[in-house]
Amino acid sequence: FIPPATGGAGGGTTAKDELGNDVSVAKFLENRNAGDRNLVQGLKGDPTYIVVDSKEAIKDYGINAICTHLGCVVPWNVAENKFKCPCHGSQYDETGKVVRGPAPLSLPLAHTSVNDDKIVLTPWTETDFRTGDPAWWA
Ligand code: FES
Repeated sequence: FIPPATGGAGGGTTAKDELGNDVSVAKFLENRNAGDRNLVQGLKGDPTYIVVDSKEAIKDYGINAICTHLGCVVPWNVAENKFKCPCHGSQYDETGKVVRGPAPLSLPLAHTSVNDDKIVLTPWTETDFRTGDPAWWA
């Protein structure tokens, strides 16, 4: 659960929708269910999955959707609970950790928070919690 920030968050990038508008977290969560993963424009405009934690909250990390093989945008496959790249078959688990090549690396993470009903992304530079390794993308 991410409590709403009280303002003054230092920096970060506000998530945008496909039209370039800020994403309202309240609207984002409407008609969504825990476990849903939906794309926004994140850091550097990269397509980034926001993960629905509950009816009221998003997870505190987002998942960059650009395949680490050759850069296709990787769709979320609800039925199989994994991300499956349509280009050459790479697969990533529900956290974006690579589980099948040819992709060499897991999908990059970003921190997410909520500030004034907006989803804010900041770079993830710490240890990758999925592998215990340094963040390769940082
Ligand atoms: Fe995703 Fe090749 S670009 S598997």
